[in-house]
Amino acid sequence: MTNADTTTATTTTTTAAAGADWQAWQHSWDRQQEWYMPDREDRFRIMLDMVEALVGPAPRVLDLACGTGTITARLLARFPEATSTGVDLDPALLAIAEGTFAGDERVSFVTADLKDPDWPSKLPYDAYDAVLTATALHWLHAEPLADLYGRVAELVRDGGVFMNADHMIDDTTPRINAAERAQRHARMDAAKGEGALDWSEWWQLAAKDPALAGPTARRFEIYGEHADGEMPSAAWHARVLREKGFGEARPVWCSPSDTLLLAVK
Ligand SMILES: C[S@@+](CC[C@H](N)C(=O)[O-])C[C@H]1O[C@@H](n2cnc3c(N)ncnc32)[C@H](O)[C@@H]1O
Repeated sequence: MTNADTTTATTTTTTAAAGADWQAWQHSWDRQQEWYMPDREDRFRIMLDMVEALVGPAPRVLDLACGTGTITARLLARFPEATSTGVDLDPALLAIAEGTFAGDERVSFVTADLKDPDWPSKLPYDAYDAVLTATALHWLHAEPLADLYGRVAELVRDGGVFMNADHMIDDTTPRINAAERAQRHARMDAAKGEGALDWSEWWQLAAKDPALAGPTARRFEIYGEHADGEMPSAAWHARVLREKGFGEARPVWCSPSDTLLLAVK
């Protein structure tokens, strides 16, 4: 299956974007995301441990809501025989991803809205060994997310895996949640005093780079500041993934605020 929206990293870097320092943007994106999640790299390490354990060291991966291609970068650094399709809707983050992986035949990118029921038809493959995602699906409300899980279940081959690292809130523990949140935000405030960039400030910086100004304006037309969504509990994610066709689902890592949920088909 091929589609005009599917582009290999070899061919998609635009002329306007050719001069940008993509590695600097990757680094800056990572620092911004780590301000919210200091243990972000731990999540990726365990995610790739579980990829290796369940589908081996040369998987075909779908990097779902890939952003700048964070998961793809870590995947290929650890498993050079892997291949990856990144899918996202944000033109600015996709520009950074495409610039970063230009010339790498193992990687391709697809522009699609994960709320569009037809998005899987834009992918270059019908089936994946692993569908991996991080810090993204809380941009969706529970109902569209459950629909998305149904489509993901169809894309994962039998024996393949889905993993989602994200904020997952257990509403049955309000005092724990409040205390954890207060501590996390106090630490973020302290880091801010030392110069950490938050989400809005990072986007203001992106808008000033001639290579990203156009795509950044377009992403604000698409999303506004940030899409509205929900953060259901890990138990909700595991239950819905089983209902949608996965045989097993449970957390394989968690912090006080985040969970890495693994489902096996
Ligand atoms: C905070 S970023 C995380 C990116 C990357 N996974 C990472 O960990 O750095 C959230 C991503 O989800 C993407 N996203 C949110 N809703 C989406 C949708 N409906 N369709 C496609 N991508 C979406 C955004 O465009 C953004 O790239």
